[in-house]
Amino acid sequence: MKKLLLSTVIALGLATSVSAEVGETHIEDFAFSFEGPFGKFDQYQLQRGMQVYTEVCSACHGLRHVAFRTLGDEGGPHLDAETVKAYAAEFTVFDAELDDDRAATPSDKFPRSGLENAPDLSLMAKARAGFHGPNGLGINQIVKGMGGAEYIASILTGYTGHEKEQAGTTFYENTAFPGGWIAMAPPLEDEAVEFADKHSNDVRHMAQDVSAFLMWTAEPKMMARQRIGLVSVGMLMLLGILLYLTNKKLWRDIKRKS
Ligand code: HEC
Repeated sequence: MKKLLLSTVIALGLATSVSAEVGETHIEDFAFSFEGPFGKFDQYQLQRGMQVYTEVCSACHGLRHVAFRTLGDEGGPHLDAETVKAYAAEFTVFDAELDDDRAATPSDKFPRSGLENAPDLSLMAKARAGFHGPNGLGINQIVKGMGGAEYIASILTGYTGHEKEQAGTTFYENTAFPGGWIAMAPPLEDEAVEFADKHSNDVRHMAQDVSAFLMWTAEPKMMARQRIGLVSVGMLMLLGILLYLTNKKLWRDIKRKS
């Protein structure tokens, strides 16, 4: 009887948490080039994403942990030194020594958020997890990864078009944002940005490009880390094989006798 009661309680608990999740956020599993053990950032996608950030998001959001010079790094947008210099010069930063604003140089970091309630985006792709479930255990992350970039892309494509006014602030219904209502107006619209490489510039593509760029700002060394991981796994496998062979050889005579 006790057991029955217990299993009913557990079943009920599972049922409510599952239904809660269905009613919650929807994160789309976008296919990014940097996923999987052999994944790589796509230099041209990062450049497009950087352009979307610059022309749209930077009006409100800062990237205060990212130094301009890293835009020239291999594995990142990989801009040449002159372009990095010219790009940095378009931003103004506050110089404590001059006690004034001046044009940024490659050794400066991007400015902080211009809008007070807009969070800094440098580490956003690592601060948010797109995949949880079942029951928030994070099991999906083993298969799909954390999904920070997916979360950002889902926010940008998740607007339903409904809005409401609350305490003087407008909230926009969004299927990816926890709680369902976000205070950020839909930042992208089709053709908001014109890419030099004539890549598609509908909301979906721009959302993926800028999310890839923000994944890079959050984890610029991801590829190097993955490479080290792969090499270590390879070494461990080699060691495993050698140990197996050694073991076989050591026991060969003893086993034969018995
Ligand atoms: C007009 C200002 C504005 C622009 C432009 C803007 N945002 Fe936002 N963004 C906000 C504000 C304000 C919030 C905080 C919303 C909230 O907490 O409800 C926010 C929140 C976010 C969040 C955080 C969601 C979370 O989980 O906390 C992400 C991600 C984001 N913006 C990405 C972007 C990207 C990418 C762009 C460019 C394509 C962009 N934003 C353009 C104002 C803006």
